[in-house]
Amino acid sequence: MKSVFRAITVFAGLLALGLAGSCDGNNNNNTGSIPFVNVHLQLDLNDPRYINLNPYGGYIYIKNYGNRGLVLYHNYDDTYSCFDRNCSYQPSNPCAVLEVEETGFFMQCGETVNGTFEPCCGSKFLWDGFPTDGPATYPLREYAVYKNGNLLTISNR
Ligand code: FES
Repeated sequence: MKSVFRAITVFAGLLALGLAGSCDGNNNNNTGSIPFVNVHLQLDLNDPRYINLNPYGGYIYIKNYGNRGLVLYHNYDDTYSCFDRNCSYQPSNPCAVLEVEETGFFMQCGETVNGTFEPCCGSKFLWDGFPTDGPATYPLREYAVYKNGNLLTISNR
């Protein structure tokens, strides 16, 4: 009876690990295979909804495009960079969504809940799309940004 109880305990523990261990390094599917999604959109920088893009270092999130939405960043050389918010470490992981860290210097994988950032597996990315911390080794999926006057066109590269 004692061994049955122990077996049940071990099984329950393994089950809990399986459910909670979404970033388990032993199950590394770090393929860098952020799925291809057709992206093409235009936005007018005069639109007040994009006012946060005005300063260098400013950024906005764009919902309903890419895999997990896009993040559009105004570089300090007055160009723009756009990335899929899907993390390259385990793209299918439910927590594989990028947020801009509060200093604005990098993106981190995880989600802010009730004002507190909850990291996924610890991956962080610089504004060139390459990982700077955590288990991710592949860059993010980047989209091309063309500027013509006040009109930005974002599309697949
Ligand atoms: S998928 Fe976990 S760190 Fe990005």
